[in-house]
Amino acid sequence: MVNEKVNPSPDESHRIATTDDIEVSTYLEIAKEIGGEQPVAAPEAIPGAEREAIIVLDFGSQYNLLIARRVREAQVYCELMPHDTPWEKIAPLNPKGFILSGGPASVYEPNAPLAPAYVYESHLPVLGICYGMQVITKQLGGQVTPGTRREYGHAVMHLNQVDSLLFAGLPESTTVWMSHGDKIEEMPQGFEALAYTENSPYAVIGNSNNVYGLQFHPEVAHTPEGKNILKNFIYKVCGCKGNWTMGNFVHESMERIKEQVGGGKVINALSGGVDSSVVATLIHRAIGDQLTCIFVNNGLLRREEADRTLKVFKNNLGMNIVYVDATDRFLNRLKGVTDPEEKRMIIGEEFIRVFEDEANKIGKVDFLAQGTLYPDVIESISSVSKVSAKIKSHHNVGGLPARMTLKLLEPLRYLFKDEVRLVGKELGLPEEMVWRQPFPGPGLAIRCIGEVTKEKLEILRSADFILMNEIKKAKLYRQLWQSFCVLTDVRSVGVMGDFRTYGYLAAIRAVTSDDAMTADWARLPYDFLARVSNRIVNEVDGINRVVYDITSKPPSTIEWE
Ligand code: XMP
Repeated sequence: MVNEKVNPSPDESHRIATTDDIEVSTYLEIAKEIGGEQPVAAPEAIPGAEREAIIVLDFGSQYNLLIARRVREAQVYCELMPHDTPWEKIAPLNPKGFILSGGPASVYEPNAPLAPAYVYESHLPVLGICYGMQVITKQLGGQVTPGTRREYGHAVMHLNQVDSLLFAGLPESTTVWMSHGDKIEEMPQGFEALAYTENSPYAVIGNSNNVYGLQFHPEVAHTPEGKNILKNFIYKVCGCKGNWTMGNFVHESMERIKEQVGGGKVINALSGGVDSSVVATLIHRAIGDQLTCIFVNNGLLRREEADRTLKVFKNNLGMNIVYVDATDRFLNRLKGVTDPEEKRMIIGEEFIRVFEDEANKIGKVDFLAQGTLYPDVIESISSVSKVSAKIKSHHNVGGLPARMTLKLLEPLRYLFKDEVRLVGKELGLPEEMVWRQPFPGPGLAIRCIGEVTKEKLEILRSADFILMNEIKKAKLYRQLWQSFCVLTDVRSVGVMGDFRTYGYLAAIRAVTSDDAMTADWARLPYDFLARVSNRIVNEVDGINRVVYDITSKPPSTIEWE
């Protein structure tokens, strides 16, 4: 399912609407604070035995990253690049074909973004999607006109040319997802209409030079044959071999890390989250003890979390781990603080201080490893989506001025989250680590409403432990994007046995989501909720009432603070 992405509301601008754990937010901030070099796109740093790539030129559609993901799922390396990227940046990737994305502009407007000449002059196959199709039509001499009404939603597409390479294995009629205003009035010379829908006589067009246009979106789940159309383009039209596998990635990425680091020293902040775990394991495989992981226990972790993380990385994988129990440092600074923003600022700041103190003790360090992922890279190179709306904002953690200068090592910067999990599997990380639900950097502090105290954290940990235990027993863990307890600052009256109680109100939050940008509350079975509520109230001293949060995002957010 594709979620319509939403802009964060202004009061949400502090949040890191990321799919990730501590590492995405914190690492980026650490890098900024301690003066790490900001990464630049470096095509030569992309692993690929026999390099081949499909390049998506970005005209600003919200679905663009999804196109790249679909191509990668088909085992071909794919990158999203600004529509005006110079050829010199693309050539090293050995492109086998171009996809021109959709976008909000109209080709007949002045200054409408168009494709660079090399797209046509290279004689590589081209697939234009929606706006991309209109770009092809305009640039090759056809005519596009403003549609009198938008066509949005499902349409049935019928094939005119069943033997087109693009349609191999497709039924003669299939559902497609349309979302366009403008339409093709006249095809460019040499093109044929390969398929049509009721409202679009030119649902698919193509010529004998392997230039194709689709009026619909093949990348979204609403176009059931979309994946096959993309696969046909990649393999049958572009002739790709399909060497983008996580096994290849691990192998080549280790070689690259060795080459890049040489005899240098690397540090990274380990959180136990998927990305930092995969980064640490990959680098450790490549350079062993030249890597030191700093694992900061901020006192805001869940029950048994620190022990379990240490066990895996120190005992099982034999990594060099510096463990710092900084609970008191964090809790002292959080004393009396109730404002969510202030909590986040303090935790971010303190994390950098602790991390820096520990890093200084290690002596000379050359690299900081980070779990930056491809969507973060795309987000930070804002020119990629020059024409699209801003989707997420990273919060600014105040902190120490730059003192260290470290080079960044970001072995996952070309990967999507699902690819990172596959790399984790490939590296033999435990299932529970590979499939771990996201946990926010500020930890339980933003799930403990009001002042954060040791006592309240213990109550919250106990309730959360019961919930997670039941979620896992009911085999719901992997279906849920996140599930956790929140300890509210509300107290209410209850009765237990013959006694009056006055205890905290706990809330259960469980959501389904694809990417944390939007989320829906999970329809957990009543019996399940009854069991969890019963256990929490009976087993956790201090809680006498449990509610279930039934709001989606938007208008709510996943975390309460
Ligand atoms: P919200 O609450 O904004 O959260 O819907 C979206 C996703 O981001 C996670 N989250 C964070 N992750 N540092 C992080 O690394 C943070 O400060 C932070 N705040 C929220 C949240 O758990 C959800 O997955």
